[in-house]
Amino acid sequence: LHIAVLMGGWSAERDVSLMSGKGIADALESLGHRVTRIDMDRDVAQRLAEVKPDLVFNALHGTPGEDGRVQGMLDLMGLRYTHSGMATSVIAIDKQLTKQTLVPHGIPMPGGRIVDTESLYARDPLPRPYVLKPVNEGSSVGVAIVTDEGNTGNPIARDATGPWQEFEQLLAEPFIRGRELTTAVLGDQALGVTELKPKSGFYDYTAKYTDGLTDHICPADIPADIADACCRIAVEAHRLLGCKGTSRADFRWDDTQGVEGLFLLEVNTQPGMTPFSLVPEQAKHLGISYADLVGRIVEEAMH
Ligand code: DAL
Ligand code: MG
Repeated sequence: LHIAVLMGGWSAERDVSLMSGKGIADALESLGHRVTRIDMDRDVAQRLAEVKPDLVFNALHGTPGEDGRVQGMLDLMGLRYTHSGMATSVIAIDKQLTKQTLVPHGIPMPGGRIVDTESLYARDPLPRPYVLKPVNEGSSVGVAIVTDEGNTGNPIARDATGPWQEFEQLLAEPFIRGRELTTAVLGDQALGVTELKPKSGFYDYTAKYTDGLTDHICPADIPADIADACCRIAVEAHRLLGCKGTSRADFRWDDTQGVEGLFLLEVNTQPGMTPFSLVPEQAKHLGISYADLVGRIVEEAMH
């Protein structure tokens, strides 16, 4: 096949996407495909019209590659592409829309409130500790955990520095103490559960992409009922959102509460495919190599 790999772009996760895209493009070449590597810019439609690929492999993260815009463009151009379609992407990129979609179906997610930054300086939106995050970023870009111990003031002082200053609206969620778990779905099957143990702080951008800063325990050393619940919820969320190809469900688990302490945080429709990334790692544990995984995503997209 002639496959165009879309990568890069202008989101906060541009560098992550370039790493994902390189890995994918190299793997596609090793599988014998003809590959055109495209660093996404505003002329991408023109470029794709010239290239006329059989398939677009979407290696973008964040906006506009993970939020439905690129998917809508590709639909209009009549091009096949990997991963989820437009409507799914629009919902899944938005953590609040995701809750509104999944919680009525019994998927456990933390309660969230949209707050404007100005109101944060007037009063805390939730009892501390709570998490502030942009509704539609990935890789923990812009995430802050607000604690009593933090030196932000209470409520947050106007002159306290933090990532909330960069966004007009934020999602506030109760902070769930405990452990960070993740489950990849490929096709309609869960690949397993990985626990992420950052060596310090939380699993933020630096901990995610700096080799050695986070231990990945794959498979996670957790009770079978928790692992089963992660797999069940990940597959169910994938299905309810209408995800295609692969997705990855991220969880927090308060291990003092049993299965009641398990909460889905979000579903990633364009999960990372870098050398440090979790989907390739879970696949590998099942004996699926990186190249095989990329091949499976291509196969899914072709039929
Ligand atoms: N947003 C990053 C790429 C992930 O979900 O892996
Ligand atoms: Mg994400």
